[in-house]
Amino acid sequence: MTGLTTGAYPLWGEQNRYIVPIIESIPTGVVALDSSGKIVSFNRTAEQITGLAAKDVLGHTFDGVFTSDYFHNPALNIENILNTKQTTEIQTMVVPANRKDNLHLNVAISPLTSAKADNIGTVLSLTDITRMQNLKLQAKRTGRLAAMGEMAARIAHEIRNPLGSIELFSTMLIADLQESEELKTLAEHISAGVKSINNIVSNLLLFMRPDQQLDEQVLDVHEALKDSLFFAGHLLDAQDGIDVQTELTTEAMFVKGDLELLKQVFLNLILNAIQSMSDGGRLHISTRKTSGIAGTHLAKVHLIDTGCGIAKTELSKIFDPFYTTRKKGTGLGLTIVHNIIKIHGGCIDISSSPEGTQCVVSLPVWSGPEIKND
Ligand SMILES: Nc1ncnc2c1ncn2[C@@H]1O[C@H](COP(=O)(O)OP(=O)(O)OP(=O)(O)O)[C@@H](O)[C@H]1O
Ligand SMILES: [Mg+2]
Repeated sequence: MTGLTTGAYPLWGEQNRYIVPIIESIPTGVVALDSSGKIVSFNRTAEQITGLAAKDVLGHTFDGVFTSDYFHNPALNIENILNTKQTTEIQTMVVPANRKDNLHLNVAISPLTSAKADNIGTVLSLTDITRMQNLKLQAKRTGRLAAMGEMAARIAHEIRNPLGSIELFSTMLIADLQESEELKTLAEHISAGVKSINNIVSNLLLFMRPDQQLDEQVLDVHEALKDSLFFAGHLLDAQDGIDVQTELTTEAMFVKGDLELLKQVFLNLILNAIQSMSDGGRLHISTRKTSGIAGTHLAKVHLIDTGCGIAKTELSKIFDPFYTTRKKGTGLGLTIVHNIIKIHGGCIDISSSPEGTQCVVSLPVWSGPEIKND
């Protein structure tokens, strides 16, 4: 080594031994290109992130390996990369061959300079920022839902009073119209319609407000899940060709929460999955306990269906109140699910592809000293 043996690298010979293991061990994907765009270095993390093996890419041109549709950001093209004069950061989404879900990457592109400061290529550092990106999206979603919820709850409140009068008068009409079967049926339609609106309004009032009181107890998540599966049973019986598989951990997963509300969460998710599989399919439900931050644990429930899936462009709207693609849907199911999970201190992730949809509910495991139920 020439100029590098002094200054910042006094122990270069000793350090040299560590360079390759360091590059192989860092949790950042490192991809180095020579000045013609050929890949000359591809570390282990780059392999994990891209799903490509170093032996298959080394010596090949970058644009030959990463075709124009690989990165979902046109700025990541070979011309831009090779012409980068100073470190530039680009964020992009990729769907690597080894995984079904999207990955959000931060790609830092830096010119690669020799000891004599000659430009000898380019180095790309790939950082997986999927988790951070999801947290950002969740925070944005929560803010948006809180504002929408506030407005919806006010409207619902205003609708309640005139609705009460309509309900009362339609019941009186039904009683008065016993003589005429035809008119009585019409009045019954009014009454049924009012009941249905009342139902929606009640849901709005109950679940759109983030400040609602919980009827808290310490309960096993499996209890809520099994009850919801039992309730969904009649629907499953009525719909042919749906195979429900459960793979529940034998460990109890205690959480502090409201049993009825948590049952609503799972029931809504199970119903959505069933409704997405009108031609039959498989719903796989599994649970597991994982480590959270600072020694805490999370109770995770995965619901994976093989239904119609949710289009990428629609995925960001599914938690919005009244967003529905179903003829008879109210579009409140997932809004309610989101809010119930939020007030339990948990979170929900939904990802989808044309092969189906995956919902992951995470709830903080109760770590209190003892478990006392009423
Ligand atoms: N498992 C799933 N598979 C496919 N699409 C889904 C799934 N879950 C939700 N969706 C989509 O998200 C939309 C919103 O779901 P949400 O549960 O909020 O309302 P809904 O099911 O339409 O009506 P409801 O208020 O009766 O639940 C659905 O209309 C559907 O387009
Ligand atoms: Mg629903």
